[in-house]
Amino acid sequence: MDFLYLEEIDSTNKYAKERVNDIKDMTVVYTFNQTAGRGRLQRKWSYMGEDNIYASIVLKPSNVYKEVYSNLTQLLCLVLAETFEEYGIEPQIKWPNDIRVNGKKISGILAEGINNGKYLEGLVLGFGVNLNVSKELIEKIDQPATSLNIETGMYIDKEYFLKKVIDKFCLYYNKFIEEGFLLIRDDYLRRAEFLNKEVAVKVFDKTYSGIAEDVTPNGALKLRDKNNQEHILLIGDIL
Ligand code: BTN
Repeated sequence: MDFLYLEEIDSTNKYAKERVNDIKDMTVVYTFNQTAGRGRLQRKWSYMGEDNIYASIVLKPSNVYKEVYSNLTQLLCLVLAETFEEYGIEPQIKWPNDIRVNGKKISGILAEGINNGKYLEGLVLGFGVNLNVSKELIEKIDQPATSLNIETGMYIDKEYFLKKVIDKFCLYYNKFIEEGFLLIRDDYLRRAEFLNKEVAVKVFDKTYSGIAEDVTPNGALKLRDKNNQEHILLIGDIL
C-alpha cells in the first residue's frame, strides 16, 4: 500500500474521488486535519483534533463492479475491530460497518464508488477513527461517541494505529476479493451487537423494522418484521 499524506484537506474521500485517475490502486490518502469530513446518511464527520485518523483507501480491483466490493466496508470494519482489540477493548459491530464500544461510536466508514458511466474507476473506503479526544469534546457530538484514549486511559500513537489497520487490511484483501464475505463471516458475527434485537434499518427512503436474525453468507442483514415477513437487506443503516 502507498501512503499519500495531506497536511490539511476538507475531506479525504472527496479528494480521492476527484483525483481517482491520478491516484494509484492501493493508496491510503490520509490527513490529521480534515475540515469538512463527510459521513453516511448525509451526516458530517466532525473534526476531533489532529491526534485522530481521517483516511481513505483507494482501490481499483477491476473496471467492472462486483458484488463483493460492497462488502469491503465490512472487511475494513472487522480489521478496525481487531485492531482496537489489540488495545484490550471489546468493540462491537453494528451492521454493516459501524464500530461501537458499550453503545458509543468510536469509528465510522464511508465507502464511495466512482463510475464514469461505463467503467468503475475506483472505490474509496473512507474511515475516521477517534483515537485521542478529550471527554469535553466527545460529549459535544450529536450521538453517543467515545475514543480509544478514553476507553484505555492511554495516549494512542496515530501513525502506529493507521499502519496496523492497513497491514491487516492488506493481509485479507486478495483472498477477500476472491472468497467474499464468507471469509470473515464468523469473525464478523462474533462481534455483532445487533443480532436477535429489534432494529430499524434505513434503506434509502424506506425504514424496515424487525428482529435482526442473521447476516447472510454475502453480508446482507436478515430481518424479520412483525408480520413474520423476512427481508434480506443488502444495503442500509441500522438507526
Ligand atoms: C459515518 O460513520 O457516518 C462514516 C464516517 C466516515 C468519516 C471518514 S473520515 C475520512 C473520510 N473522509 C470523509 O470525508 N469521510 C471519511
